[in-house]
Amino acid sequence: MQSTSLGRLDVPRIGLGVMGMSAYYTGAGRDGAESIRTIRRAVDLGVTHLDTAEVYGPYVNEELLGRAIKGRRDEVVLATKFGLVSHTGRPGPDSTPASIHTAVDGSLRRLGTDRIDLYYQHRVDPNTPIEETVGALRDLVEAGKVLHIGLSEAAATTVRRAHAVHPVAAVQSEYSLWTRDPEAEVLPTLRELGIGLVPYAPLGHGFLTGDIRTLDGLDAADWRRSNPRFTGDNLTRNLRIVDQVREVADEVGATPAQVALAWLLAQGDGIAPIPGTKRIDRLEENSAADGIRLTPGQIARLNNLTPASGERHAEPDMAAVDQ
Ligand SMILES: NC(=O)c1ccc[n+]([C@@H]2O[C@H](COP(=O)([O-])OP(=O)(O)OC[C@H]3O[C@@H](n4cnc5c(N)ncnc54)[C@H](OP(=O)(O)O)[C@@H]3O)[C@@H](O)[C@H]2O)c1
Repeated sequence: MQSTSLGRLDVPRIGLGVMGMSAYYTGAGRDGAESIRTIRRAVDLGVTHLDTAEVYGPYVNEELLGRAIKGRRDEVVLATKFGLVSHTGRPGPDSTPASIHTAVDGSLRRLGTDRIDLYYQHRVDPNTPIEETVGALRDLVEAGKVLHIGLSEAAATTVRRAHAVHPVAAVQSEYSLWTRDPEAEVLPTLRELGIGLVPYAPLGHGFLTGDIRTLDGLDAADWRRSNPRFTGDNLTRNLRIVDQVREVADEVGATPAQVALAWLLAQGDGIAPIPGTKRIDRLEENSAADGIRLTPGQIARLNNLTPASGERHAEPDMAAVDQ
């Protein structure tokens, strides 16, 4: 597995998002043993950039990850996030220094570690100036509890303000063949400032793999059932995108998931997607995308895919991004 840099943090080019092992998706949490085996296999394969958050579950996803890496802490890059759980009793997102100081100790305990490699603000808190939040994160770096800091779904201007207080290693935002939003402002700003981009949902929450053509296989509680891109006519229209990805995949001798990841890696250095899966076979498939090279012609075709129908999040979640 080749590596890349997020600021001064080296990570493998492909990581593993563990969120879906406990939250949001069909079957989440049903078989913790399979999830733990998948995480351990990831470490064996060099997929050592492991991404979770306090709010996944909440808490249980960090606990699961902590159990899985027991005895192997030094082999992995642990990334987690704060800010969507308030520890001060305030409603809504809470990135006040008081809440962060409580949050970090909980995450360290659940992950079974004395340091978090990459600690992200999960969403920008409109009621707390970013300078205050990053000042608290700088204190955590000085205390050795956190090694690098990140933001998630932050606007370019917020990234600049944060970076002026303490170097930001990475911004984690949704970026994939059907969500190109970061290309307009965020990605150029990150390049200018030497900050990495961690694309979340790089497989379009599973849609770009071609495995989801109807909602029939998803549980009643699956988050995607209420996502605009997975519902009604949008779902039918968006299947055209997957069919186009599959055409390229067939040419390359790869799977659509691998093409979706290889396209992200082809966007340049400092980009480290974190596809999520509970399954070892899919982990192996996704990590093998590191070795797939797309031709300029294939990249151009993928750049010109039919645009996605539907917003990438339902309201009010859309209101919380690009702040
Ligand atoms: N910062 C944020 O706000 C934010 C938001 C969302 C997610 N994230 C992070 O990003 C990570 C990844 O995002 P995500 O899980 O939402 O979406 P994703 O990685 O785009 O897709 C995950 C889905 O695809 C399926 N899948 C994975 N590999 C596959 C393959 N090769 N073939 C067929 N299906 C495959 C998974 O199912 P199985 O598990 O059944 O394989 C799961 O349903 C999360 O784990 C989380 O750490 C961050």
